[in-house]
Amino acid sequence: MEQPGSHDATATAEGVNRRSLLAGVGGLLAAGGAGALVSPAAAEAVRPERDPRVEALLAKMTVEEKLGQLQLVGTEDAARAALATGRLGGVFSVVGAAKLNALQRVAVEGTRLRIPLIFGLDVIHGYTTNFPIPLAQGASFDPAVAGADATVSAREARRGGIHWTYAPMMDVTHEPRWGRIAEGSGEDPFLAARMAVAKVRGYQGDDIASPDRLAACAKHFVAYGGAEGGRDYNTVDVSLQRLHNLYLPPFKASVEAGVATVMASFNTISGVPAHGNGYVLHDVLKGAYGFRGFVVSDYTGVEELILHGLAGDGADAAAAALPAGVDMEMVSTNYVRYGARLLAERRITREQIDDAVRRILLVKVKLGLFERPYVDEAGEVKAPSPAALAASRQAAGRCMVLLKNDGPVLPLAKSVGSVAVVGSLGTATYDLNGTWAGLGTGAGTTPPVTVVDGIKAAAPGATVTYTAGCTVDGTDTSGFAAAQQAARAAEVTVVVVGETAAMSGEAAARSTIDLPGVQEQLVAAIEETGKPFVVVLVNGRPLTIPALHDTAPAILEAWAPGVQGGHAIADVLFGAVNPGGKLPVSFPRAVGQVPIYYNHENTGRPADPANKYTSKYLDLASGPLYEFGHGLSYTTFRIDGLRLSATRMPARGGRIEVSARVTNTGARAGDEVVQLYLRDPVASIVQPVRRLRGFERVTLAAGAAKTVSFTLTPEDVGFYDNAAKFRVEPGEIQVYVGNSSAATLTASFTVT
Ligand code: NOJ
Repeated sequence: MEQPGSHDATATAEGVNRRSLLAGVGGLLAAGGAGALVSPAAAEAVRPERDPRVEALLAKMTVEEKLGQLQLVGTEDAARAALATGRLGGVFSVVGAAKLNALQRVAVEGTRLRIPLIFGLDVIHGYTTNFPIPLAQGASFDPAVAGADATVSAREARRGGIHWTYAPMMDVTHEPRWGRIAEGSGEDPFLAARMAVAKVRGYQGDDIASPDRLAACAKHFVAYGGAEGGRDYNTVDVSLQRLHNLYLPPFKASVEAGVATVMASFNTISGVPAHGNGYVLHDVLKGAYGFRGFVVSDYTGVEELILHGLAGDGADAAAAALPAGVDMEMVSTNYVRYGARLLAERRITREQIDDAVRRILLVKVKLGLFERPYVDEAGEVKAPSPAALAASRQAAGRCMVLLKNDGPVLPLAKSVGSVAVVGSLGTATYDLNGTWAGLGTGAGTTPPVTVVDGIKAAAPGATVTYTAGCTVDGTDTSGFAAAQQAARAAEVTVVVVGETAAMSGEAAARSTIDLPGVQEQLVAAIEETGKPFVVVLVNGRPLTIPALHDTAPAILEAWAPGVQGGHAIADVLFGAVNPGGKLPVSFPRAVGQVPIYYNHENTGRPADPANKYTSKYLDLASGPLYEFGHGLSYTTFRIDGLRLSATRMPARGGRIEVSARVTNTGARAGDEVVQLYLRDPVASIVQPVRRLRGFERVTLAAGAAKTVSFTLTPEDVGFYDNAAKFRVEPGEIQVYVGNSSAATLTASFTVT
């Protein structure tokens, strides 16, 4: 077997080389028989469908026109310049129905074959109506939240002339320093897959030609979340088993859900940049998964093969990316520049060009662009509708996680006489949208409702004061005295601290993940007053907040909650909404613990405080501050009555129902997320100590109970090995059911 990172040149019929990472392993897989991920047949990419209109066009197109379809540009000027030569497939990041129609007119009326352009945009968690950031949506443990965002976003964006969104992002990550953790669903592949599928369905519906739907884009393919040190774009060196068990599952699920497009990622994967990685794009995505849509590069991702050191120049870069499986080039222009020459030099083939063109034209056909290239400008959505705002507010409430609530201090009484809001995020607007705020923050966009305004609306009888105390990342503490004075004068203080929107997202890695600036000291200053207070966190990543945990009576994780943020936070603070979110990612005690994640493998020496020679730090307690799946409620729940429908599961065709009863044992209605984890204690590849394989969020009235059941099949107990082969091995499987990854209710069954 060749080592990961080695290349092999696989000769195709035309004698053209196709770079394939791990080609040696591919060969081994080919011999792997039943269950092998890359079977001999699947190692060849699945061919896109044959559509008569596409075939007729292909027959008429010159090589130059074909290469033009592979080009995507990101500005109006670049679009006009490319259209002048008739060589353009799509445009992204240009917004406004009239502008887009004008560009479309040039393509449809001014080019020889009248092929319409596809218009893309990063509609990540909203277009005019911003929903909570995707990490927050992960915390809802409710795919319907992701579905609601996608449905509203698709309607608004399509009516603005956009056809294609660069979402959902589904990069699983163990790296809270990485700013793009905000854009995904956190550290678990099962949760990420469920949320991704809900988004794909929400954007695409049953028919992407519908005037309310978009083509989705599963990104970033793949393992982008493995960036070393959490530094964006950084190297990823990953075992095959981890690639297939951790990073690929959401993509596989999205392809199964019919996602129209996939975006390649900026990182290397075991030495081969994704944009030139034939193993992941060709063999896995288009081969084993049978993906029939098209792959778009990320921004200049093809050109970046030069700086990565995979290609010597632009021609080399194109010669690596197209055969590897990148169909459309974003921003850089190496396909259109060098494609004809590479074809003449037999470094790429006509089939490879045709395959890419076919895939792109098919998506345009499915979008209905040949029948309806223009959007109705009168129907453009320029501001959130009341229904969209209500959906965003409801979603935000479902995403919030109550981390701590001693006393309990929360919920606050609506009859409270006075509230002091402290912290500069208390009056923040656009920061509440977090990264990728749809149409952005400029004129004509709708600013989010501030926390102060949300509290004023929720407690109209109260005197609400506001004192910043400090800025988010400054060092000036001179405002603390005024903040303390305000806290002393009020019945309760709400301290709003966290991160600005720019502190997470792309190219926003942080080397520490503490509360920035002097915000932690601000909380301590409020504590000094001895008056009741609660902390609201606004942030795009897990933060290290042990000091807050020690001092604050209550902590509400609100994330970047979107356009209705202030109202949604007040809904939870005053109990109109009982929080039911759970952490989709572990909160470390200190940044030095990173990577820390619940689904880790055991060592031969698991942490034991009584034994020095175990896997731990000398200077820090083991484990996270808050574990994956953690989240409190204003009521209490009991989960018991764990039952398995059988004690044995045949490895082929087996099935076991796991059920448990959840009872609301408190005095008010609330939500609980019943979570099912599995552990395979003995396997040929050591398995995570726990793996989430089921969850259900239930709403129960006080005193009410419900039985929740999950169906397990061999797919839930199996795993990929280091030859990327899916294995279901005989032996014991332990089941844990509870309300976090620390669940203790347990049973087991045997795979036979
Ligand atoms: C770069 C980002 O990595 C990607 O997520 C985004 O879709 C593109 N830019 C286009 O804006």
